[in-house]
Amino acid sequence: MANLVAPAVRKQEVSVTRKMAASLPGLRAIAQSKGLKVHHLGAGYPHPEVTDPRGFLNHQEGYFSFLREKEGLNDPETLPEFLRESYSYTDTLGPLSSRKTFAEVYGRDWGIKIDPEKLIPTVGASGGISLACSLFERSGESIAYITDAPTYAGFTARASLCQHATIYSVEMDSEGAIPDLMRSQIRKARSDGHFVPFYYTVPDGHNPAGFSFSQNRREEIIDVLKEEQVLLLEDAPYLYINYAEPENRPITFLGIAPEQTIHLFTGSKIGFPGPRVGYLYSDAVLEIEAGETVDLSTLALTESSSDLLFQNPAALRGFEALLHKEREDGGYSVRESMWELAEAKLTVYRDNRSILLQTLEERLCGYKDYFDWTTPDGGFFSVFTFLRKDSSVSVVTDDSLIEHLVSEHGIVVIPMYDFYPEDARLRNPGAGMNQLRLSFCFSESAGEARKRDMKEAVEAFCDAAIRLAVPESERS
Ligand SMILES: Cc1ncc(COP(=O)(O)O)c(C=O)c1O
Repeated sequence: MANLVAPAVRKQEVSVTRKMAASLPGLRAIAQSKGLKVHHLGAGYPHPEVTDPRGFLNHQEGYFSFLREKEGLNDPETLPEFLRESYSYTDTLGPLSSRKTFAEVYGRDWGIKIDPEKLIPTVGASGGISLACSLFERSGESIAYITDAPTYAGFTARASLCQHATIYSVEMDSEGAIPDLMRSQIRKARSDGHFVPFYYTVPDGHNPAGFSFSQNRREEIIDVLKEEQVLLLEDAPYLYINYAEPENRPITFLGIAPEQTIHLFTGSKIGFPGPRVGYLYSDAVLEIEAGETVDLSTLALTESSSDLLFQNPAALRGFEALLHKEREDGGYSVRESMWELAEAKLTVYRDNRSILLQTLEERLCGYKDYFDWTTPDGGFFSVFTFLRKDSSVSVVTDDSLIEHLVSEHGIVVIPMYDFYPEDARLRNPGAGMNQLRLSFCFSESAGEARKRDMKEAVEAFCDAAIRLAVPESERS
């Protein structure tokens, strides 16, 4: 039989995080057969201790009873309108009450004015990334996405689905993407014949770079993007997974320049990842075909209505429940702030982060010529670097080192090299080849056992790092 053909389709590369997830069961079995405990410093998932849905389900039930009473239904046989709506086809914008509640609370938290009519529900932040990309890919013209080197693997994966899109990446320093390099990459992309729709970044708790952009750098970046007329796609999953003091938290790009920014909110980290709740928001106005101007949110809405068509109203109503608080009289009011929700998560992540940073400091303070690591102000990750300065032993963080760490030490970490877009690796073939992403969000245990496991994991990692990088003669 003749083959079915799709001659223009290019095969997708599998990301190192996916490869790692696939090879993990085998490596774990090897580690366990050697009697090694498996130390989780790799997974980027929310901790099971803060994603137990039972408390939420009780709360949701209470809120739904409240809605039922508000509808004035005394007869238990009558189906309340909100419940009927939650399990019916809804429109692309999802329930208005959920959008209004979110606009009110999020707007208050971040000092921004959000118009609920411009809030487009998405399937998590992943759906928001995809929506923003497809909006600009639809014309078929050759496009260039600007992003950081390194950048979020989910963005690279989505961007590479489009065969007429190319990534132009921008190196970062400790404050964020470097503005001059950004300007020259935008100009290079244009001179190579591409249209440049946006710069994608994760400014708070950057995944995978393990730091947050400074306020000053955000403003410099926005200046470049305004001059160059390029939008900014702000992926903000870790906005509330924030360790900075309130007065030191930078302003979001949406707060600095709402007309230049497409902001992605997700319920995955502040609530739960399973229901796949997210919103895309922008005040940007675009000039399109024949000089017509149109709100970006209108374009996103038509894009979404031809793609997803219907949102999941029950999930959005559940998120709305989370944004309400039970009063003493048994009624429910809109929460003052989402920080109340974040606090429950932050107790776990703050602990884990301090254990990671303190243990690295304790164990490696005598070896500062060999190692460096980032101190994250947000998110789940720290980037660990093997410095090569005066070391006679040079550590290469490739796949075989990762396998060695699992099978010989039971340590699961993610190498950084795969987070560098292709052009960054062409500029610098060594990019990320001396770095690991250490995550402190996930373990299988809870409470005191979680803290113990976290400490043991970091201690095991430090011992392995010393053995790999420090010549025996210099070990203390
Ligand atoms: C930077 C970044 N963007 C997007 C996502 C995906 O989020 P969601 O579950 O909302 O799709 C993640 C998840 O880890 C992430 O780290």
